[in-house]
Amino acid sequence: MAGVEVKVEGLSKSFGRANIWSDVSLTLPPGEVSVLLGPSGTGKSVFLKTLIGLLKPEKGSIVINDVDLVRCSESKLYEIRKLFGVLFQDGALFGSMNLFDNIAFPLREHTKKSEAQVKDIVAEKMDLVGLKGDEKKLPGEISGGMRKRAGLARALVLDPEIILFDEPDSGLDPVRTAYLNQLIIDLNAQTDATFLIVTHDINTAQTVPDNIGMLYRKHLAMFGPREVLLTSEEPVVSQFLNGRRQGPIGMSEEKDTAQAQREMAEAGELAGLPEMKPQLEVSPGVPERKAVGRRRERVQQMLHTLPPAAQDAIRRSYANEPVTAMAGGGGPLPQRVPPGAPGATEVLNPGDNPPTWFTGPGRHRPRM
Ligand SMILES: Nc1ncnc2c1ncn2[C@@H]1O[C@H](COP(=O)(O)OP(=O)(O)OP(=O)(O)O)[C@@H](O)[C@H]1O
Ligand SMILES: [Mg+2]
Repeated sequence: MAGVEVKVEGLSKSFGRANIWSDVSLTLPPGEVSVLLGPSGTGKSVFLKTLIGLLKPEKGSIVINDVDLVRCSESKLYEIRKLFGVLFQDGALFGSMNLFDNIAFPLREHTKKSEAQVKDIVAEKMDLVGLKGDEKKLPGEISGGMRKRAGLARALVLDPEIILFDEPDSGLDPVRTAYLNQLIIDLNAQTDATFLIVTHDINTAQTVPDNIGMLYRKHLAMFGPREVLLTSEEPVVSQFLNGRRQGPIGMSEEKDTAQAQREMAEAGELAGLPEMKPQLEVSPGVPERKAVGRRRERVQQMLHTLPPAAQDAIRRSYANEPVTAMAGGGGPLPQRVPPGAPGATEVLNPGDNPPTWFTGPGRHRPRM
């Protein structure tokens, strides 16, 4: 099985008159792990649900294996959905079914496997997420973290080629989160599936993905190699990565610009980004992640288009040198990626000098 590319272009979603996000374009590179960040309520879960065709966007396209999910027939959509393994934010287990039946559900629904085969697969996945022995329990009888892990097992039973996890780490203790992050990397190595993970866990964002995107103010503010976001000096990124109160993100709404600027000035000494951490590697005995080589080539080709700090971090990571965020970094100034070149869709505002990878209201991305 090889990873599948997911190409999203110009996607917009509203509920009635409430616009959630507009003009979202990104390509999930086949077999790579991507993370989607963003303040609460910015529409991350809505984005995942749109990706699997549960919600219909007003505009744009989602192309997987040459099929546009937004426009295809119901039967085609049903076929394409089988490629996905999804963990919804709330776990979405059936309350009246025990864990075994919950996890077996997609197999019984979508395959013609015998009960003996179903039993083997469910046992293997339950073991994988540490739920061996809990087959008979009902969702109401177990902890939130266990429900989350049962949802994970269910997302994996069909050996999906595209895996969407909505906050798989929320409700897990730090040790289990560390196990989960390692599991994601190992699963990616074993399956070469394409992952998109929504998380609020900064450590997860720092150590797991190949790529990071951020939804902010009804737009996809950025999407690209992890180093771009992790070295970005945009106030919203540094507020987010540092988990600070001061900055553009407020409790319920984005703050007005004047207030945010006052706070940023007051919190001047707090500015800066957390230290960059190395990406997790596969566990001993697990085969290499095929995505690593492909990503390296892809990133190499787009390197000159990236902000200098990101270029520097990438060069250092490939040279196995310690990477310090805010390293500044030299390297040539970014140039425009030719349309159609690998990674071209992920380059925001190419040609700006210095590069503006961060887009928001009023900062428009040129169409390429
Ligand atoms: N089915 C729906 N009908 C109407 N509005 C909806 C629906 N689903 C989500 N919304 C609205 O869309 C917005 C984005 O919700 P979403 O759940 O995607 O946020 P999120 O980024 O996942 O937040 P969190 O980090 O808290 O999970 C919210 O304002 C929510 O009320
Ligand atoms: Mg959500």
